[in-house]
Formats: sequence, structure tokens, C-alpha cells
Amino acid sequence: MNEALSRPAVVSRVSELVGCTPLLELCRTMRALGTELVYVDDGSEDLATAAREELAEELARGRDNTVFTEQHNNPSNGVGYHPVAHELHQALDGRLDLLIGAVGTGGALCGTAGELRTLMPDVTTIGVEPKGSIAFGGPAHDYYQSGTGTPEGAEIGALVDFALIDEGVKVGDVEAFATARAVARTGLLIGGSAGGVVHEALRRLPSLPPGTTVVALVNDGGEKYLDTVFDDGWLAARGLLAPDVEREIDERLGKLRRN
Ligand SMILES: Cc1ncc(COP(=O)(O)O)c(C=O)c1O
Repeated sequence: MNEALSRPAVVSRVSELVGCTPLLELCRTMRALGTELVYVDDGSEDLATAAREELAEELARGRDNTVFTEQHNNPSNGVGYHPVAHELHQALDGRLDLLIGAVGTGGALCGTAGELRTLMPDVTTIGVEPKGSIAFGGPAHDYYQSGTGTPEGAEIGALVDFALIDEGVKVGDVEAFATARAVARTGLLIGGSAGGVVHEALRRLPSLPPGTTVVALVNDGGEKYLDTVFDDGWLAARGLLAPDVEREIDERLGKLRRN
């Protein structure tokens, strides 16, 4: 474990300098765990995904005990989620109607959905990406939900299997973050992309027949986003602080808890 952690991880210098994503917290955590950070600096504030991947591949080449995980193009990413399908099948006694999940590389939702279809073929799958992401069409623009979606200029991940996604929807940063913050007040700290997924689930609930079982996949917890999604100043500086939207979601969640 310690040996693995001392291996290099490739990150963007830009993200660290401008602090524009929760990568900053992630970098600190990795460093504390003994990881050597190798920076990509392409001189711009643009996404440096391609540059990071190229360098990671180069670093891994010829080194012992080092792998380039290539998550956008690695079938193991999806296979890693097969147990989630079995867990859901077991926990819900085979009763699941709607599965909603974020789509970035496609591993989480399509990996789970592919295996679920072998167990519960009638499950409907809804993919959620940030507004501005391009897997479910345009227009493309910047977004702050991190770890998810396909930004302009990036290739749609090989694991995004549209045959396994019955419907693709987009959720804006304001709604996603407001939902994450409202959900946190119920006692569950979830990340920003998970806020988008839960927002979509809440939007659909009123129109679903009683007895429908819905699962919203939460990709990560919110502790990495204390300086961003859960920081009023960070949100306000980007025009993303929306107390009215949060209040509305608080009310919806409150009603659900009373039912
Ligand atoms: C925070 C967050 N949200 C959403 C996703 C999207 O999941 P996937 O890339 O499996 O489609 C990820 C993926 O790692 C993630 O880290």
C-alpha cells in the first residue's frame, strides 16, 4: 500500500494554482498520503486532461510496479461496478425501476447498468451530466461539477454505452450544488456531481407511480468539497450561490421525510 502511494500521480499545475476545482483538496490529501505529485503545466487555464494522460502513460512505460489506469478507455473501470448491481439486486429483492447516475467515463453508470440488465432487464437507466458537458449533446460550456461529464474538446469515454442509457439529462451547477448542500443538512455529505443526480431524482419523483423504486448513485462524499461546493464565498464568486434554490430543495426533502 505505502509503496503504491509513493508512485507518481499526474495533476495539472493550473488547477492547483487557480484553485478552480476540488483537485486542490485531492492534491493535499495525496501528498499527505506520501504520493509524489508530477505537474502538467501547459501554460493555459484550459483542461489539461490529454496532457495529463500522455504524461501518465509515459511515466508508467517501462517502470516496474506502475500502471497507467486510462480510466476513460479501460473495461476494468466498468467491471469494477458489477458488484454494485448485485448489491442492489440483493438489497432491493430484485425490485428496481429507475437507476439514475452521473456519466463521466461511463464506468459507474454503464458498468452497473450492464450487469443489472442480466439480473433485472426492465430497469430504466437515466444518465446525468453537467450542463455544458457534451455526451448528451450541446451546447458546450465550462462547468464546475468535477469528476463528471465530458468537457468540450475531450473524447466521450469508451465506456459510455448509449445502448445502456435510456435517457440522458443535464443538470446545471447551481441546481447540483444547491442539492448537495440541502442534502448535507439532512445529515449526508455528498459531492457536487451526486447533487446533480439527486436533483434529477427529486425532479422525477412527483410524476412516478406510487411504489416505484428509484436508486440515485452517489459517486463520492462531500468532504473533498468543503472549500468549494460547501463554501458560500467560493460559490458566490462564481455566481453559483442560490439560497432560493436551496430552500426549495430543503422543502422537497422535508416533505419526503415526513411521508
Ligand atoms: C465525483 C465524480 N462524479 C462522477 C463521476 C462519474 O463517474 P464515471 O466516470 O464512472 O462515469 C466520477 C468518476 O470518477 C467522479 O469522481
